[in-house]
Amino acid sequence: MKRVLVTGGAAGIGLAVAQRFAQDGAQVLICDADTAGLDRAMAATPGLRGIPCDVSQIDEIERLFAAVAEQLGGLDVLVNNVGIGGPTAPAEDLSSADWQRVMDINLTGTFEVTRRAIPLLKASAGTIITMSSAAGRYGYPNRIAYATTKWGLIGFTKTLAMELGAFDVTANAILPGAVGGERFDRVIAGRAAVSGRSVQEEVALGLASQSLKRIVPPEHVADLALFLTTPAGRSISGAALPIDCDLQHG
Ligand SMILES: NC(=O)c1ccc[n+]([C@@H]2O[C@H](COP(=O)([O-])OP(=O)(O)OC[C@H]3O[C@@H](n4cnc5c(N)ncnc54)[C@H](O)[C@@H]3O)[C@@H](O)[C@H]2O)c1
Repeated sequence: MKRVLVTGGAAGIGLAVAQRFAQDGAQVLICDADTAGLDRAMAATPGLRGIPCDVSQIDEIERLFAAVAEQLGGLDVLVNNVGIGGPTAPAEDLSSADWQRVMDINLTGTFEVTRRAIPLLKASAGTIITMSSAAGRYGYPNRIAYATTKWGLIGFTKTLAMELGAFDVTANAILPGAVGGERFDRVIAGRAAVSGRSVQEEVALGLASQSLKRIVPPEHVADLALFLTTPAGRSISGAALPIDCDLQHG
């Protein structure tokens, strides 16, 4: 039975991923900074285990890995899903504190979780999956900190794949485009506030640069994550995999 840890698993894509692995028969532990969200996720998903953990706090990560050892007894799959967008603002208006918070959570938090998971994943010939973004392929105006971290996670993933390949550990990044859910609604509202366009106009503008004229369902991202852990996906490593309805802009 696969033992899976999903960070930021209480909502959105992380919850969809956790639920997909649970449906597949895995033992799944989620962590999240939102304790009420954790309670809701566990109530909605039989068998799902949850631990409060803000990945920007080292002591909380230490407690998380004590729970991984105690409750899972090892690890086969790490899904680095946590990621925050930070404020929607041009670079010159972004405060140092807002920049630093995005770095602390998206990059340093992901590193601190991953480095504790590596010995466990070496022991199981496991899989690391990290949520980057279309913002890790293209520029993203008014989200400079977010785009910087999502590009950074590609280098992070490719380096892990090279370091861990000898242990048959795979490492891949998933790059979602616009995924449906509350976060998408917040992102569009933020863009509308900066541009002066309506929410409907912002949605239409987003879809205009996609080949497929719809939003990616979180379940499709979850299916891709699961695939990477199956025999068919186990020879894929060091990859940056877009799942974005063929988003095209430069
Ligand atoms: N939704 C999209 O359209 C989209 C597109 C591309 C990439 N992504 C990436 O996918 C991942 C998940 O996105 P989402 O839209 O589901 O996000 P979300 O905001 O809906 O959910 C993220 C979860 O992470 C938790 N979280 C936030 N900060 C945390 C911290 N410091 N420690 C622990 N938990 C924390 C939140 O409480 C929440 O439950 C992110 O890395 C995001 O950048 C999302």
